[in-house]
Amino acid sequence: MSPFRLSRTLPEDATDAALRADVLEGLTGTPKTLPPKWFYDARGSELFERITELPEYYPTRAEREILAGRAGEIAAAAGARTLVELGSGSSEKTRYLLDALTGLRAYVPVDVSESALALAGRALAAERPELQVHALIADFTAGLTLPETPGPRLLVFLGGTIGNLLPAERAAFLASVRALLSPGDALLLGTDLVKDEDVLVRAYDDAAGVTAAFNKNVLTVINRELGADFDPAAFDHVALWDAEREWIEMRLRSRTAQTVKVPALGLAVDFAAGEELRTEVSAKFREAGVRGELSAAGLEPVRWWTDGAGRFALSLSVAR
Ligand code: AVJ
Repeated sequence: MSPFRLSRTLPEDATDAALRADVLEGLTGTPKTLPPKWFYDARGSELFERITELPEYYPTRAEREILAGRAGEIAAAAGARTLVELGSGSSEKTRYLLDALTGLRAYVPVDVSESALALAGRALAAERPELQVHALIADFTAGLTLPETPGPRLLVFLGGTIGNLLPAERAAFLASVRALLSPGDALLLGTDLVKDEDVLVRAYDDAAGVTAAFNKNVLTVINRELGADFDPAAFDHVALWDAEREWIEMRLRSRTAQTVKVPALGLAVDFAAGEELRTEVSAKFREAGVRGELSAAGLEPVRWWTDGAGRFALSLSVAR
């Protein structure tokens, strides 16, 4: 018998309330913004999977290369009996770690997507009957409680998703991760690295237009969930590199002056011609910066691995 449990730390309507609050704040502020987490409905998740296969989008392949080559070293250094994965999604890259962690007793995938968790979690529990799989539907940026499972724990946060957080949010997030861990537990963090601007911009503005469709999908989500009347064709996809802050920004640029209604919020939002709505920040990192942010949160950096081309890094740090 393979124990598979799925539990929810947030009430079901919490997602809806959070979306409303985010859209209200983001569309009435200056400049207009929306948080990237709302990209990921079923279609958005599918578009993101397609992004990871694009020739221009290197992070997924670079991170997989590191995991494939270093899973044994990571497992030996962490020696974990519980693997916690934040933003687990399809859990595809996690396989390398699950296979390498020989003493593993429990796997705790955490994601906001119930469908992804149920699919990946059930399949894994069926394959690994000795493993306790406890999937958690939760927003890991908002206070998480982990189930009681054997230590030491290895918490992994892959894909470079930490780059979606602004610097102050990153500090708060790393502090909350540290608070979840006991001394000796470890964090494996995936971070995309600063590199040539052309390579970065192409990764977020691919020739086939998949990233543009992914970006515009957030408007479709707001139309469906809040009854809004966004016309995705009335916006252009924009990806730019902010050299000072070392992050990629995705924006949606209004092609014309227009007013968008959001009935669920009783809102009419005016866009000037050419006005931009920021939909994502994707920060890129340097080794010294990552080490500094980990140390500041009480996590001691112990290992640093990159892919052969030096595009992406995995770091291992230990809770003091
Ligand atoms: C899933 C947040 C890591 O920032 O590269 C891909 C999302 N956005 N293309 C990233 C994304 C545009 C991705 N993360």
